[in-house]
Amino acid sequence: MATAELAGKHLVLGMTGGIACYKIAELTRLLTKAGATVQVVMTEAATQFITPVTMQALSGRPVYTSQWDGRVPNNMAHIDLSREADAIVIAPASTDFLAKLAHGMADDLLSTLCVARDCPLLVVPAMNRQMWQNPATQRNVVQLRADGIEVLGPDSGPQACGEVGDGRMLEAAATYEAVASFFAPKILAGKRVLLTAGPTFEPLDPVRGITNRSSGKMGFALARAAQQAGAEVHLIAGPVALETPWGVFRQDVQTAQQMHDAVMRSVADADIFIGVAAVADWRVDHASEHKIKKTAERALPTFSFVENPDILASVAKLPHPPFAVGFAAESGDLEIHGEEKRVRKNVPLLIGNLGPLTFGLDDNEVILFEASGATKLPRADKQALAHALIAEIARRLPDTSLIR
Ligand code: CTP
Repeated sequence: MATAELAGKHLVLGMTGGIACYKIAELTRLLTKAGATVQVVMTEAATQFITPVTMQALSGRPVYTSQWDGRVPNNMAHIDLSREADAIVIAPASTDFLAKLAHGMADDLLSTLCVARDCPLLVVPAMNRQMWQNPATQRNVVQLRADGIEVLGPDSGPQACGEVGDGRMLEAAATYEAVASFFAPKILAGKRVLLTAGPTFEPLDPVRGITNRSSGKMGFALARAAQQAGAEVHLIAGPVALETPWGVFRQDVQTAQQMHDAVMRSVADADIFIGVAAVADWRVDHASEHKIKKTAERALPTFSFVENPDILASVAKLPHPPFAVGFAAESGDLEIHGEEKRVRKNVPLLIGNLGPLTFGLDDNEVILFEASGATKLPRADKQALAHALIAEIARRLPDTSLIR
């Protein structure tokens, strides 16, 4: 999450009855941490699962549960509460509430707010798998989508009732991601983005190998930003301990050769390729099949190396390459090496990290190298920078309909 990525957004968070109410405590924390203001409205049933006091403490605002609440001076809670909302998010959304929404019913504060709204409505269903599969529920969901309501999830897996299947609510973090994604401008709608991220691992023997200090954070942040911008994202990752960004298709590889092969298999469909991975330039010619043991004479092992394929350059060399973007981390003279590397790799845009010390850190400062010159972007956390870079890339895209 980028610092304050939902700053200025006002959300009405509507809770209906269900055990998944416990997830909304965490969701509220995530939304407020991202800078959103959150007005919680609960149905009577929701208050059976978690108290308004808890939700008030977490949201920092009074919680409303009744249409007849005297705190709204004009007795128009159903209109006042959503007047300034950028969206209403119903989480958890029960079977009953989905049915009410599908039929435009307005018999309590939350349902009335939804019918009287002038803003987008997002629902996050949570129910037992049979309730989800019930033809009436499925019919209602089709109707909600047709009415322009966003249906987020549900997830699949073990349920509170002991059964396993579709219907459980998205986790709080996934719900947050879906909401943040909803608000991001869709500047890459309809585009397919292929990225590489993280280090590669080149084995010496079955237990040892050569790798580097790339954490994968920048590549994963870019994948998340591209997904939020409306792109279909395929992320090919070296060995990293990071969670897959929501809505992103991830493929794990180990070696540079595997990364190269995975990219080459998928690149024909891509509109944009971003090579963020710190790819090993060399690999050991013949990695030992067995663990290399110390000898009685203590002779040091020797290795001969061969060069790995240059993935970015191979992509740029294709007869119809996607818009290819490179990354470079240099230990000095970035201004000189950056442009030289861009020309050598034959890509329209190369993003230079200012200083190798950004490995593993949460923020970064970069320079964009392109034929027309170099532009420095201000230091920012990697997620905010990723959004800025996706916007820079989107602005530079050729009109592919004219080229392909
Ligand atoms: N790259 C790649 N395949 C390689 C090496 C690098 O795709 N075998 C890509 C990286 O993902 C990055 C860009 O090329 O987008 C620059 O990587 P870098 O390691 O800085 O470039 P090198 O060509 O390896 O240059 P150097 O001599 O500085 O190591």
